Amino acid sequence: MIRRLCIIGVGLIGGSLARALRQRGYCQEVVGSSRRREHLQEAVDRGVIDRYETDAGRAVAGADMVLIAVPLGAMEAVLGEIRGRLAEAAIITDVGSAKGSVVAAARAVFGEIPARFVPGHPIAGTEKSGVAASFASLFDGRQVILTPLPETDPAATEQVRQMWLTAGAAVQLMDVAHHDRVLAATSHLPHLLAYAVVDSLARLGDHDEIFRYAAGGFRDFSRIAGSDPVMWRDICLANRDAILDIVGGFSEDIARLVTAMRAGDGDTLLDVFARAKSARDRYTDGTH
Ligand SMILES: NC(=O)c1ccc[n+]([C@@H]2O[C@H](COP(=O)([O-])OP(=O)(O)OC[C@H]3O[C@@H](n4cnc5c(N)ncnc54)[C@H](OP(=O)(O)O)[C@@H]3O)[C@@H](O)[C@H]2O)c1
Repeated sequence: MIRRLCIIGVGLIGGSLARALRQRGYCQEVVGSSRRREHLQEAVDRGVIDRYETDAGRAVAGADMVLIAVPLGAMEAVLGEIRGRLAEAAIITDVGSAKGSVVAAARAVFGEIPARFVPGHPIAGTEKSGVAASFASLFDGRQVILTPLPETDPAATEQVRQMWLTAGAAVQLMDVAHHDRVLAATSHLPHLLAYAVVDSLARLGDHDEIFRYAAGGFRDFSRIAGSDPVMWRDICLANRDAILDIVGGFSEDIARLVTAMRAGDGDTLLDVFARAKSARDRYTDGTH
């Protein structure tokens, strides 16, 4: 049970967690904080939080659990605002999509990693943003990765784990660098590609026609380019080393396909496509 949960950044992720925990009666009070009063009032009106403070330092007063759910680029500033304002036993956790940069921000602000800081990342979301898009079942059956550090108090990790289990998620523990490499490959590279492809096509002379006839594959593929640009700018900068590594390998692979096409080398194309299909079928049972 959480007595007072403070959520800094009551948007899609922060709002959905608040809804999930309230629905299951897991917290007595939820206090929200962000920059804009109208967003926070909307969260109160929608029954997502009980009250709010625009000053994050005031918002965390007396909270036993503090969840930071702002874009990655704002993490360090928020940590700076709450430093020295937390209750002694308060646990701090976050939902940032890359973990190395959040850990570096915590180290920069606190001088060391606080024992009750548990970095985390729910592998769940939609292309929509803001509290209006939040819903209680967002985390049902989804994975949450926690990346506790050697300095982290295992009791704090356990409380954050219980919070996410209550919200309906399954929880995995992972090393920070490993998390950032895995997510660079599975989420960050596909988003970068979707943004690049959609932008490229949108700048073609006949783009109206391309989008008018876009269906099936292109619609699916381009869906994630509808995600929030600020969030994705921050992710690409925060996890740039791991993303650049994976982009390097990918660029070589696509260059090999281009060379094969130029040479009319259908065998190479068939090999690559068949290998990709069988890899995907293995992980999805060919069902979706
Ligand atoms: N969306 C996803 O699919 C997904 C999945 C997993 C993890 N994440 C991570 O979750 C975090 C939040 O993403 P989201 O999708 O929930 O975004 P969102 O819906 O846009 O919500 C972000 C919230 O942060 C607040 N905010 C922004 N800048 C702030 C600042 N400088 N100080 C205080 N509050 C600030 C915004 O409110 P104001 O405008 O009122 O300040 C808003 O309430 C990000 O770190 C993202 O990487 C997202």
